[in-house]
Amino acid sequence: MPDNAPGPAAAVLCGLAGWVPPRVVTNEELAERLDTDDAWIRTRTGIRRRHVIEPGQATSDLAVEAGCRALRSAGADSVDAVIVTTTTPDRPCPATAPTVAARLGLAGAAAFDVGAVCTGFVYGLATAAGLITSGVAGRVLLIGADAYSTIVDPLDRANAIIFGDGAGAVVLRAGHADEPGAVGRFDLGSDGAHEDLITVAAGGSRQRSTGDEVRRGDRHFAMRGNEVYRHAVTRTAESARTVLRTAGWTIDDVDRFVPHQANLRILHSVTDDLGLPRERCVANVDSVGNTGAASIPLALADAAARQTLRPGDRLLLTAFGGGLTWGSCLLTWPEMAVHTGPEPAPHTHPHDRGEETAS
Ligand code: COA
Repeated sequence: MPDNAPGPAAAVLCGLAGWVPPRVVTNEELAERLDTDDAWIRTRTGIRRRHVIEPGQATSDLAVEAGCRALRSAGADSVDAVIVTTTTPDRPCPATAPTVAARLGLAGAAAFDVGAVCTGFVYGLATAAGLITSGVAGRVLLIGADAYSTIVDPLDRANAIIFGDGAGAVVLRAGHADEPGAVGRFDLGSDGAHEDLITVAAGGSRQRSTGDEVRRGDRHFAMRGNEVYRHAVTRTAESARTVLRTAGWTIDDVDRFVPHQANLRILHSVTDDLGLPRERCVANVDSVGNTGAASIPLALADAAARQTLRPGDRLLLTAFGGGLTWGSCLLTWPEMAVHTGPEPAPHTHPHDRGEETAS
């Protein structure tokens, strides 16, 4: 290969946006209806507030908001495929992605959902990269969107404090592995032996085919928080080490660690375990909670808007979720058009002044 020949084919990040619904639910508001308090929530999770959709809204509404901003960020008015990764699809059938594609004026593009719970965004990135490097698609819109407020029991104090609604989206184009923004290496994994740690029992074929009566609680999200916590720390760190090893990177090569925003204690434990200084860990869980498949692109959009992510930064993305599933990805941050909107008032978060986190 001549010296100036491009590297191997790769999917390259060229657009990014995050969006959360305007309605904010603070810890204090939760404490008015649940037996909990702000100090307990902050100490155990690092979360101060989260955003929730209004009655009548659904995941596709979040996905459309993030998706149109990501397309604008990429300067793109068409894509070959739309992938929505979510645990809260608008309904079991059909998938949410075709609805989102049509509403974005992208009818005709391939459109499908990816389900990997909170690991969905990393699985979706790998899927989009596969479509691009195999030549099936030249440009892909990938949206992580979740509305956990629709599946969490509002009276369940263990879970109602953790989750928030939101969406984050990226656009990927065909390019080369040596370009900034090229995604990969990946590490993806699962362990279905622990399927019962994070579940929504009703709504699928298993319970329907038994003919059992659907109990109210079966429609709600259930999680064995303590066990999930332990798996999240160990599996996330293992996956991060694996992807670094396969790429020949050391932990010192990582400028920014962008983990799934599950809970600040998990983020700090993994960061410490990896031997990374905590200031290299990107965290916005305090202001949005755990937004499931949206959490990594929302964290990226926030960090880009705050300019704590800079072109040339080497990133390690890592996620963990129900399944169990986990996954990691490496990339170098590219130059990208980032619109941060009006200047923030001192000490306010981008979410305070509107819903657009970056586009
Ligand atoms: N406010 C006050 N007390 C609460 C509470 C709340 N919101 N939620 C639970 N408690 C109580 C429990 O009932 C329990 O009381 P008991 O000792 O009288 O039985 C006590 O606090 C301790 O519960 P425990 O579950 O051991 O707390 P914890 O320190 O493990 O924190 C989580 C609970 C859910 C915050 C924690 O397990 C966690 O973060 N897990 C990971 C969840 C996660 O991030 N999942 C997403 C992965 S993708």
